[in-house]
Amino acid sequence: MFLFESENMKILAIESSCDETAAAIVEDGRKILTNVVSSQIDIHKQYGGVVPEIASRHHCENILPVVSQALEGYSFEDIDAIGVTYAPGLIGALLVGVSFAKGLATALSKPLIPVNHLQGHIASLYLSTDLKPPFLALIISGGHTHIVEVSDYTKYNVIGRTRDDAAGECFDKAARALGFPYPGGVYIDKAAVSGKCTYPLPKPKVEGQEFDFSFSGLKTAVLNTIHNTKQRGEEINSNDMAASLQQTISDILIDKTLKAAERYNYKTIALAGGVSANSGIRKAFENACENRFKLYLPEKKYCGDNAAMIASQAYYNFSDGIIATSDLNAYATSNI
Ligand code: KG4
Ligand code: ZN
Repeated sequence: MFLFESENMKILAIESSCDETAAAIVEDGRKILTNVVSSQIDIHKQYGGVVPEIASRHHCENILPVVSQALEGYSFEDIDAIGVTYAPGLIGALLVGVSFAKGLATALSKPLIPVNHLQGHIASLYLSTDLKPPFLALIISGGHTHIVEVSDYTKYNVIGRTRDDAAGECFDKAARALGFPYPGGVYIDKAAVSGKCTYPLPKPKVEGQEFDFSFSGLKTAVLNTIHNTKQRGEEINSNDMAASLQQTISDILIDKTLKAAERYNYKTIALAGGVSANSGIRKAFENACENRFKLYLPEKKYCGDNAAMIASQAYYNFSDGIIATSDLNAYATSNI
């Protein structure tokens, strides 16, 4: 229930949960005024993945220039509130954004709005589509794979989650073993275009919770296939392995999500998170949902981490009276 709705409310939001330092201004939850993302991918690439301490240090260096750039054309007087990602993510990385946002909100005497990163990913759909709750969301990112009932803008119920690796993690680890750079999902997507699904890969069964996922067995199967092929003195066909893995992940996600939508009576399905940029997964969902479900996909540029999605969710949180107190902290893990 909304406590109040404000018109032309401009929220400046900050996101620093992983390896992107980002700031954005969004009006009334849906209209992006500015959106700045400074990625550290090139720095972490040399290590094959994100190094938490290096990420925190770079957030520290980048946050002021990124926020200043997001404010270009606007003054602090134009901003009605500050939003910030407080969980989940790398703790040292989150603390940079939270501390900065706290200082800014205090200095400007503006409300500070806490935003859960996963809720932010869901809100990325509000930036480029007319999607409104209720709907069933599938969040697929580097750290999470969640099926979530979104009954209202601030009301969620998680009905499935991964027991081990996230879908993005499975892509990244397999990609690394194939010799692709970080972040591997992007390179698997490209390689799969020229590949065929020739490698048989398992679809792990998860005992108990019907809508939970497990990707660690699939990851191990890819690593074992690569290893065994090399042992035999043969060469792995990276394009074919990329296509096989992408198809398998896609089948698993579609199977569970569509079954969950049927079980919980949702006619609308929405994808969000970095992995939802995958062209094979997008196409496969489009085909599977045709004539059965209305499918919403975020624009590819809003799938990965950004602050516009945080500003969007901050608007709905604020409208529902969710405002941080002065003791707001950061948390590495958190339920949605
Ligand atoms: O949402 P995100 O940017 O950060 C987290 O919150 O984790 O997701 C990052 C993940 C990485 O695992 C990356 O490999 C994956 O999203 N990813 C992709 C694609 N683009 C990014 N995975 C598959 N295909 C893509 N095109
Ligand atoms: Zn994310």
